[in-house]
This record gives sequence, structure tokens and C-alpha cells, in this order.
Amino acid sequence: MTDQYAVLGNPVTHSRSPFIHACFARQQHQRMEYRAIEAPLDGFESCVSQFFQGDGKGVNVTVPFKEQAWRLAACRTPRAELAGAVNTLWRDESGQLWGDNTDGIGLVTDLTQNVQVKLEGARILMLGAGGAVRGVIQPLLDAGCSQLFIANRTAEKAQLLVEQFAPLLPEGVLLQGGGYTSVPSDGEFDLIINGTSASLSGDLPPLNPAIVGAHTLCYDMMYSARPTAFCQWAITHQAARAVDGLGMLVEQAAEAFLCWRGVRPDTAPVISLLRQSLAQQ
Ligand code: ATR
Repeated sequence: MTDQYAVLGNPVTHSRSPFIHACFARQQHQRMEYRAIEAPLDGFESCVSQFFQGDGKGVNVTVPFKEQAWRLAACRTPRAELAGAVNTLWRDESGQLWGDNTDGIGLVTDLTQNVQVKLEGARILMLGAGGAVRGVIQPLLDAGCSQLFIANRTAEKAQLLVEQFAPLLPEGVLLQGGGYTSVPSDGEFDLIINGTSASLSGDLPPLNPAIVGAHTLCYDMMYSARPTAFCQWAITHQAARAVDGLGMLVEQAAEAFLCWRGVRPDTAPVISLLRQSLAQQ
């Protein structure tokens, strides 16, 4: 039987993961099938166990189940442990369910390899303090930035993240957090990352344009066929570049593929294909 993989979410019909993994499988000559499964909101666990009872070899997990997947995994990789969320599941030879989180490494790989931004010494502003942001903080800190400010509509959530990650802070890195009005406006940031879900509704966090300079890269963890509201804001305020999260999506998928199949696909052609397919819609 062909090895089966799936992305579980609700809703999940919009997911690009089946497209991405089909490209990877073709490229790497792997015999596997990957589909999208809409798990009932109150039935994630039984959906996962049913999947693994058959020919299921691995699962990607998306909104709103990543925290549940974290609780469900009997063993977790260190990066999943810190993220508090799991987006990749598989069983080892002894049948233990493993959970990993490849979102953070996906973001850092996209930034450093595809966008080619230098994270060493960078001043970074992170917008948002939800589950998506929590998953990427440690990889960003480990990538050598000099400062990370987490800004959120609900200031307490940003402060909580700062408290949580403070004990793990690499030496010399400044980690701060608060509401949007407390974002330092005394200098421009090298990198501003939008990790809020505001883009989904075409909304924007209230941002002071003084934080953007001619060298600032603005990165939206969301992606869409047309520039997101955040990318449009960045272009209007003459940021050096505005990039969406399509590359992050493909890079996190490549890391999941590596966990499951032991090979890391070449992501560049898949990013181009996915961009083309989005533009045609
Ligand atoms: P996700 O898993 O996508 O991170 P989440 O955990 O619900 O989802 O977090 C959503 C994030 O987007 C939060 O930081 C949220 O801010 P609050 O914590 O104050 O709710 C942020 N967000 C959502 N809509 C927003 C908007 N219109 N303006 C600013 N921030 C918004």
C-alpha cells in the first residue's frame, strides 16, 4: 500500500499543503499520497488515531488543532516543546506518537535562504503574540538578532511571552514586549514581521510609520494572491521590501517532509510553482 499523509484542520479546503507535498514527492521520487482532511472541531484526536490505524505515516496539523496536537504527542522535539504547538506528527517504530513544530525553522529558512536577510545583529519587531508567534520566537532568537520587540493588541500576552522566553535568551539579546503604543519609535527596525491574523480580515495593527526605514524588510507570515494589507502598508511607507509568508509555508513543509521521508526537497521550484498557481486564481 502507498504511504499515506494528510493535513488535518478545520477549515482545510484552502490548504496548499497537498499541492506542496505532491510537488516534493514527485521531485524526490517518493511513493506517497497526501490529502486534506477536515477534522470535526470536537473530533481531532479520534481523527488522528483513525488515520494512523490505516496506512497513515504522518500528519500535518493546522488551525485550530496545533495546541491539541501538542498535548496528544507522547514525545515532542525540543523545538515543539518550546513552541507549545505541533504541526507535524508521525509514529516511530515502537508506535509512539511524535510531534514537531517546523514553523519557526520554516520562517528562519525563508528569511535567510530565500529572502536573504541577515538576522545576525538585526533589530526585529514582531507584531502579534498568538500561537503562530509563539512558535517562531526561539528560532528567531537563536538566529542571532540583537533585539526582539513583541508588540500585541493585548499587551499582557506580549509581556507573558517575554517572561516565558527570558530564561532561554542568548547572551546580549534584548527581548521586550508590550502594546503597540510602547513600540520604540526612536529608530527604524531592520525587520518587521506581521504574525497577527489581522491580514485575514484585511486589517492592520496600528503602526507608527517612523519604525520603517529605507532598509527595513517587512514580512507577513500570511500570504495571498495579492499583497496583504501589511505588505501594502510597508510599500506605502517605502520599506526596502515587502514579502509574504508563502516561502515560509513551503519551507515548513520541507522540514516536515524531511522528518517523514529522510530527505529535504529543493524548495525554490516549488515556491515558484505555488506562486504561479496562486496568481492564476
Ligand atoms: P494564531 O494561531 O494565528 O496566532 P491566535 O493565537 O488567535 O491565532 O492569535 C491571533 C493574533 O493576531 C493575536 O496576537 C491577536 O491579538 P490579540 O492577542 O490582542 O487578540 C492578533 N490580532 C488578530 N486580529 C487583530 C487585529 N484586527 N488587529 C491587531 N491584532 C490582531
